[in-house]
Amino acid sequence: MKVAIACDHAGYELKDYIKNNLKQQNIEVVDYGTNGPDSVDYPYFGHKVSLDVESLKVDFGILICGTANGMAMTANKHKGVRCGLCWTPEIASLTKQHNNANVIALPARFISKEEGWKITEAYMNAEFEGGRHQNRIDKMHCA
Ligand code: RB5
Repeated sequence: MKVAIACDHAGYELKDYIKNNLKQQNIEVVDYGTNGPDSVDYPYFGHKVSLDVESLKVDFGILICGTANGMAMTANKHKGVRCGLCWTPEIASLTKQHNNANVIALPARFISKEEGWKITEAYMNAEFEGGRHQNRIDKMHCA
């Protein structure tokens, strides 16, 4: 499994924590930064991960900013991306089960590092349920 991850200045510590946990599970991680507290613009990093997901270079993406909103909005501009804003493990599971999200966005300023990892694990352990949920996903696109 291969995962792309990125964050802005609000999320670099959570990003590194999740990256290290993924690596401990022998999951390949592409880290697009940022890597410190200096202020950056989240779309630059959100697009990097989203392009990898869209082009199927990775199995899924993880984006982290303060609220997760900016990253989720950026990712969802990409046609091949379904990014869910996940702030609890249950929501992360449902984001995969019902929405077949291929990117999760985490709000670093509102969750602990441990919660961030539990959310990531919940997403990874969940399966898309298909059926009526696929019908709904098919109706998401704009003409
Ligand atoms: C940065 O201060 C903050 O605006 C950003 O991390 C994010 O929350 C935006 O949606």
